[in-house]
Amino acid sequence: MCGIVAYLGKKEAYPILIKGLERLEYRGYDSAGVALFNNGNLNLYKKQGKVANLVEFAKDKDTSGSLGIAHTRWATHGEPNDRNAHPHFSGNESIAIIHNGIIENYDVLKEELKKRGYVFKSDTDTEVLVHLIEDIQKSEGVKLSEAVRMALMNVTGAYAICVISKDDPNTLVAARKSSPLVVGIGRENDFYLASDATPIIEYTNKVVYLDDEEIAVVNLEKGLKIYSLQDEEKTPYVQELEMQLEALEKGGYEHFMLKEIHEQPRSINDCFRGRLNSVEGWVELGGIKEFEKKFTKAKRIVMVACGTSWHACLVGEYLFEDLARINVEVEYASEFRYRNPIIEEGDIVIAVSQSGETADTLAALELAKSKGAIILGICNVVGSSISRITHAGSYTHAGPEIGVASTKAFTAQVTVLTLMALSIAKKKGTISESKFRTMLAELEAIPAKVSEVLKTNDLIEKISAQYKDASNALYLGRGSSFPVALEGALKLKEISYIHAEGYPAAEMKHGPIALIDDEMPVFVVATEGPSYEKVVSNIQEVKARKGKIIAVVTEGDTQVREMADSVIEIPATDEHLVPLLATIPFQLLSYHIAVMRGCNVDQPRNLAKSVTVE
Ligand code: G6P
Repeated sequence: MCGIVAYLGKKEAYPILIKGLERLEYRGYDSAGVALFNNGNLNLYKKQGKVANLVEFAKDKDTSGSLGIAHTRWATHGEPNDRNAHPHFSGNESIAIIHNGIIENYDVLKEELKKRGYVFKSDTDTEVLVHLIEDIQKSEGVKLSEAVRMALMNVTGAYAICVISKDDPNTLVAARKSSPLVVGIGRENDFYLASDATPIIEYTNKVVYLDDEEIAVVNLEKGLKIYSLQDEEKTPYVQELEMQLEALEKGGYEHFMLKEIHEQPRSINDCFRGRLNSVEGWVELGGIKEFEKKFTKAKRIVMVACGTSWHACLVGEYLFEDLARINVEVEYASEFRYRNPIIEEGDIVIAVSQSGETADTLAALELAKSKGAIILGICNVVGSSISRITHAGSYTHAGPEIGVASTKAFTAQVTVLTLMALSIAKKKGTISESKFRTMLAELEAIPAKVSEVLKTNDLIEKISAQYKDASNALYLGRGSSFPVALEGALKLKEISYIHAEGYPAAEMKHGPIALIDDEMPVFVVATEGPSYEKVVSNIQEVKARKGKIIAVVTEGDTQVREMADSVIEIPATDEHLVPLLATIPFQLLSYHIAVMRGCNVDQPRNLAKSVTVE
């Protein structure tokens, strides 16, 4: 939530900052702004709305300078307007700040600063921090980095900040706590700072991920120095980025979401590549190998996540319980963290998160860790906060996901959970050798089957045209297709703003059936498997009330075809793997409906991809 980017070097900062903001726009798009140092002045331009508005606003202004900070906002404190947009100036306009996070004690600090004569120009929590820095600099006579450090000692909350001062144009000061920040070390004695590595990748692959309560001081003469909040100098740990630039571009697709949906054959393949072999009969997740024994002894696994990742956990619950015979509880991270949860010795807590930065998931993990649990992570973003605080974990290797609505990350998360469940089931002996090998072979076949499902795109586009004006929709599924129904409904809500609900098919008669009339589309997963006949009965119940049935069925199905208004066929697979296929028609459906309704598919209103506030 909120994207920050900063540059210090010899190049023109503005184009670098704007490109960086465009890359980070998935983190929020309520407003955008930039502050640039030039000729002894800090020039500040900010505008409500997307980065494009800022570019339009700044087009005839002085945007030169080789030191700058820029921000794209997801509003928390204060309306999304020009005034509340970042950067924010200190009282005498000599210091500018950008901030991602929330200063929780801003109220108290604001009152004190007001008493000392500071006038606030915005309703944000951030402005408090920049006044405080100026105040400390004045009263203590210290340099910028020291004033930032002292100010941070007085705040509680979450922050990733970058601060510049016109009195020290060779320096950029940054710090983080609970919100991400990466420092890129350029090839020409220049430095790039950003919320994630995407704005940095084309300039350098050498990065340092800041840790919590670390301050980075970047200086043109002294280079990068890192300090703790207690002022101890630390040695920067320089890592090499493996991200490819093409992964950050639309590659000929109209939207990132469509590209990411179509990437799934590859992303699922990348996810299991080198981790399984159906011929030799093994599966191995290197990241969690040292915890396998603990897994086999575990009485309980708790999975914590938010949004789409929470749905992946629900699929994981079926996998672990059925294959590895371990009791699983799936928790919304935001609920878990405030419930004084019972964690017993040997419990394993797994966090699933695309970004690896979701504030509630991170806090839930910290809580579980403090109670003695083994904490593992399944993340997509390499080097993310969750991946760094966990004891161990597995990356999903889906590649950068830019569309705010998650698609390929979901199928990659389900793939990792499948691999994990299979490897533990094998170790525990709760799966037969033949079932194990069949499942491995089925998993290897999934990418090709996903490609088959993607061929239904034109049919799905036609179906979408029929239901694009619906005001409500129901999604039904049983077993591990129930989370698919939840995910289908979430996708439709997120990007087309149609109210939709996912339900276990049999639960429909305990309420939602009252909503069914001849205008209500009901999307059902009715694939082959133990509950097929039961789902058929649920379809009959909808038909009897004249609801419209759009069913995802197994190739060759005839029974549901006769009852449904439309069917979308997917190839047959093992019932545990159905979510990997059945979810794709629903992704495409939401995409087409959103496009037909004129919605902004990649950046739906009010949402952000990386939710770093609770
Ligand atoms: C936001 C995003 C969702 C995502 C959720 C959890 O709400 O819009 O797409 O599923 O956060 O994010 P995470 O990065 O933890 O998977």
